[in-house]
Amino acid sequence: MGDVHTDLVLERRKTMTSSTLTPPEQIASSTLDVRIHHVPRTRTLPSAAELGFGRIFTDHMFAMEYEEGRGWFDARILPYGPIPIDPGASCLHYGQAMFDGCKAFRSKQGRIQLFRGRRHAARLADGAPRLGMVAPSAETIYQAMTALVHFEKDWVPSEPGTALYLRPTLVGTEGFLGVRPSKKYLFFIILSPVGAYYKDGLKPVRIWVEKDLIRAAKGGLGAVKAGANYAASLFAATEAQKRGYAQVLWLDALEHRYCEEVGVMNLFVQFKDEIVTAPLGGTILAGVTRDSVITLLRDWGYKVSERRYAFDEIVEARKNGTLGEVFGTGTAAVISPVGEFGHEGGVLKTSDDAIGPLTQRLYSSLTAIQYGEAEDPYGWVEEVTGVA
Ligand code: COI
Repeated sequence: MGDVHTDLVLERRKTMTSSTLTPPEQIASSTLDVRIHHVPRTRTLPSAAELGFGRIFTDHMFAMEYEEGRGWFDARILPYGPIPIDPGASCLHYGQAMFDGCKAFRSKQGRIQLFRGRRHAARLADGAPRLGMVAPSAETIYQAMTALVHFEKDWVPSEPGTALYLRPTLVGTEGFLGVRPSKKYLFFIILSPVGAYYKDGLKPVRIWVEKDLIRAAKGGLGAVKAGANYAASLFAATEAQKRGYAQVLWLDALEHRYCEEVGVMNLFVQFKDEIVTAPLGGTILAGVTRDSVITLLRDWGYKVSERRYAFDEIVEARKNGTLGEVFGTGTAAVISPVGEFGHEGGVLKTSDDAIGPLTQRLYSSLTAIQYGEAEDPYGWVEEVTGVA
């Protein structure tokens, strides 16, 4: 099916358009034209303290459409705002909706750097078929992300701990109630300048071990960033919060024994001289931060095992003194230390409310690369230069 190929040698050119929204402007490449409907900026960037996570959106968004037989078309940057949608759209009824999330950072020198944008774009493109969806190619997604970030570069905050969060999203839009994959899709990207995911910053969180509800079963959607996975998590998270816990530890769907994820993050547990995280067996999201942490740890000489491990192993290690640090990893929070697990058998303290040295080292090293303060031997950071 005709996808738009983008080797986005971006070039700005003036173009005549009758749109009432736009000062006439267009970003173009030989194969992807991004029309721009520009709104003048009227708001200022809030301070880091006011930002929070995902509450404020920039002035513009990116959108493009797909129709079976026509392919992807009408790539555009337009004012942020409500999108018209057919009430019969498959995303509203049958959950054909997925997203990704990544961050752009402003370095001290003013460079705008996207962290592992291509990997995020590929994850979205690769996940779509599992939901019966058609996605733009990873390259198109990546080019759209960088075009929008460059266009909105003034919205990338500069204070420590802040970033511009990108939310590329894919939804089925055909108005049809028969149960089959949609023949129409909308791909859009919105941007949100963000501060810390947790308002209290890097601080050990309390986690409830969920024994009944599950996040994902083998053969299901767990490896895909489907909106449905997040819907499936909300009830358990709310119940945990009522008990005073920030999130839940998800166990495997079959035996309710093996640790899978923590809230919306991947989980790492240090046992003596081994650091363990659940393997990517179909129920775990292939976190980009997870992969980055594994790479750093191995480079630092740690033994990292991607293997199944039961919650009982954590209990046992706590008893015999071999439990080390425990932390979650994700794009939003980066690293989140786990200070305590609450479970039916009582409370298991992992730390004395201090951030462990390894957790701190990972957070500092990863963010130093993201902000361009440390060397990036892995090629994770891509400078967004936009239009030459
Ligand atoms: C992440 O941190 O990687 C996430 O997916 C969190 C997001 C859903 C807010």
